[in-house]
Order: sequence, then C-alpha cells, then structure tokens
Amino acid sequence: MAFKLIDLPFAADALDPAISAETFSYHHGKHHQAYIDKTNKAIEGTDHADKSLEDIIAAARGSDQGLFNNAAQSWNHGFYWHSLSADAKSPSGALADKIDEAFGSFAELKDKLADRGAGHFASGWVWLAEKGGKLSIEETHDGDTLADSDFNPLLTIDVWEHAYYLDHQNKRPEYLKEVIENHLDWDFAADNLERGSSWTYPA
Ligand code: FE2
Repeated sequence: MAFKLIDLPFAADALDPAISAETFSYHHGKHHQAYIDKTNKAIEGTDHADKSLEDIIAAARGSDQGLFNNAAQSWNHGFYWHSLSADAKSPSGALADKIDEAFGSFAELKDKLADRGAGHFASGWVWLAEKGGKLSIEETHDGDTLADSDFNPLLTIDVWEHAYYLDHQNKRPEYLKEVIENHLDWDFAADNLERGSSWTYPA
C-alpha cells in the first residue's frame, strides 16, 4: 500500500510561538512528506508493498538502512504530531499515577524530559515510554524509533534542528521548555498507556 502524509491534528499556527506555522510548513509539508514519498518509492513492487509501516520498519532494521531511515522517520513524525497539543494539558488517572511512581512528580518528569532533550547529542528523538508497567525516558538517535521495540511509546519530541531552528535557532532548550510546558498531548499518552501496545501509523 502507499502510505499517506497524515494531517496535523491541529491548525498549523496553533502552537505558535513554540512551533510556528512556517516550521510546520517545512517539517510536516516537506520533511515528513519526503520520508513518506521515499518509503513508498522503495516498497513499490516489492514484498514490503502490502505490509504495515511497523512491519516494514522491523524488516528493514539492520538489513536496509535507507528504507529503515525513511520508514522510521515516517512513523516517528506521525507519532510526534499526535504527541503535540494546541492547548496545555496535564496527565490524570493511571498515567499520573505511573508518572509519580517513576519520576516522583509531573514536575520532575518535565525537568527530566527537558534535560534529556537538551543533552541529546545531534539529531534524534526523546520519548516517554512504558515497558512492563514502568515508565521511562528513552532516546533514539537520528531516524531510529521505538515503533518496533519492546517499549510502548507514549509520546515523543523531535530534537532534530529542523524541528526548532526557524523559531528558536540554536536554543533547543527554549523549544523544549515551551513544548513540554504547554504543548504535549497527555491525553494521547494516556490512550497509548491504556491500550498497552504501540500506536500504529494509519494504513
Ligand atoms: Fe523531524
């Protein structure tokens, strides 16, 4: 099947000034679109053509780096758009309990996410993930993903420069602070925790 660029789940200017419409126009409209197009081109007419994006990622890992990078980046960006929210939210219920258990408090989790994101060397992704009922912060480098891992990803933040450079230049901590304080979708994280298995990219 050919994968499609999924729509942003909010208006392109809804997260400004943390993330501007201009950034989304490139990040969603150009970068994510290119990852999708390259994935579709690579799988056309092959054994991968009818697989889910998650199965393609798993099959390409370690054997076809070009396909892996584009398929994983297609997945990561779809997951990232859903990890973002126009409105400030906070965790509740079972998610809030798990956060307190793992990090001490929601405030501590936010500080740790900001620290890990700021400290991540070069390009990559910072994740809140669950495994065996326990939450943790994970990092993946470049296009790597948790999509085919034994972690259940709850949400992610893109720390590639293309995610923030137009709005914050080299100030990655400023981007992280604004996103973490005001624009993470804790309802999406709660849905992922409740489901107990990884989000899947729409077919
Ligand atoms: Fe990105």
